[in-house]
Amino acid sequence: MSVIAVVGAQWGDEGKGRVVDYLAESADLVVRYGGGNNAGHTVVNPHGHFKLHLIPSGIFHARTRNLLGNGVVINPPALVTELDALAAAGFTCDNLLISDRAHLVMPYHVLLDQLDERERGSGKIGTTSRGIGPAYVDKVARRGIRVVDLMDADDFRNRLAATLPRVRRMVSGYADADMTDATAEATDEGKIADAYLAAGERLRRHVADGQQVVDEALERGERILLEGQLGTMRDIDWGIYPYVTSSSPIPGGASLGAGLPAVRIDRVMGVAKAYTTAVGAGPLPTELDDAAGEQLRERGAEYGTSTGRPRRCGWYDAVAVRFSVRLAGYSSIALTKLDVLDGFDRLRVARAYRDPADGREWTTVPASTSTYERLEPVYEELPGWRTDTTGCRTWQSLPANARAYVERLEQLAGTPISHVSVGPERAQMIER
Ligand code: GDP
Ligand code: IMO
Ligand code: MG
Repeated sequence: MSVIAVVGAQWGDEGKGRVVDYLAESADLVVRYGGGNNAGHTVVNPHGHFKLHLIPSGIFHARTRNLLGNGVVINPPALVTELDALAAAGFTCDNLLISDRAHLVMPYHVLLDQLDERERGSGKIGTTSRGIGPAYVDKVARRGIRVVDLMDADDFRNRLAATLPRVRRMVSGYADADMTDATAEATDEGKIADAYLAAGERLRRHVADGQQVVDEALERGERILLEGQLGTMRDIDWGIYPYVTSSSPIPGGASLGAGLPAVRIDRVMGVAKAYTTAVGAGPLPTELDDAAGEQLRERGAEYGTSTGRPRRCGWYDAVAVRFSVRLAGYSSIALTKLDVLDGFDRLRVARAYRDPADGREWTTVPASTSTYERLEPVYEELPGWRTDTTGCRTWQSLPANARAYVERLEQLAGTPISHVSVGPERAQMIER
């Protein structure tokens, strides 16, 4: 029996989807434990090139069941669209399960996400505009609507009717809430009920008691993967608040959002990119606004999977990853996108930060985001390898300088790097 959590160790988009697709080959159950369709997990495998948002990345293995856990927030029409796209590619998704306890993302959550961002003006978070934050707000405020409610039309209509007057009051409270057609539609009781109940009928065959699914898998000694969304630096508690998401990407969130005892998680695999990227606002100490940053973006195809936004790129930040190691207790790290560094003469790695205000050196992430914003990276330099690594299939076949780079990151992280990837395809994952 083994349960492995796969967790993002940076600002998201580390390659969690490709790692889960790779590991799921020998998994019986994959559980997404948090976030919603703000995620964009790209999977490139022998079946094709896929962009997943809600559906877990083990979906391409027919014998692997894939559960959307109770910790996920689900936009039913968006999930149906994703299922349709997979069906068109030949995947019927009979192996998809949806926890009945998962909360729903409603059209008014999407609207409120947008209004809230507009109101923040220059202080905006740069959310994915998918309504994720407001959906979790309603969950915590104990007025959310869940998958189980959607399965009962009367119940769903009653809950919707009860919540909409409050939603309309909130919407009209935004200074610039111009009542466009889109605004009216997002609060239109009849339209929402029709669209959601229709989507609910499409999803009904997948709905299950998620906890029971997980429990039975544990009982049978099956191999379970817990698939994270985003990364530590955007965690609601530990990330760069307020530039965070509204859930917990770290393993603490995995137990809660998948429905299994924390002590049953046997291993936690961190996923880190060989450099740094982020989408959305907030401090990013190693960000590069020069040709090197552009080279990372172009060679790494660093454009958001969900929103198409260019990702902010920079050198590897060992302080941020070490912070994540301390919070998540990784058994090991999968280091992705090493090939993106193939063309560089010299590489930089931030081993600490320095505060220009008082000269203090930081080896962890400060709680104060305004402090963090002014910290400057303290770099060490390593030689590049200027060799194409995309054809390498073994650790030994990597150029010596590439191995030395990985070994230095391993030292700085304080945990083994067990996997290194040199391209997006399954075969381009090297196990050490
Ligand atoms: P996730 O959100 O953590 O699943 O990551 P994303 O899928 O959003 O972003 C990672 C991107 O990098 C995807 O487009 C992957 O196909 C791609 N990718 C993953 N691993 C590698 C790698 O080793 N090399 C290259 N060149 N691309 C990779
Ligand atoms: P995956 O799972 C990268 C970022 C947004 C914003 C912040 C809050 O593919 O790694 P939200 O819409 O969640 O309220 O936005 O989090 N963000 C992501 N960045 N990858 C993602 O998902 C993201 N999901 C949200 O850009 O900064
Ligand atoms: Mg992504």
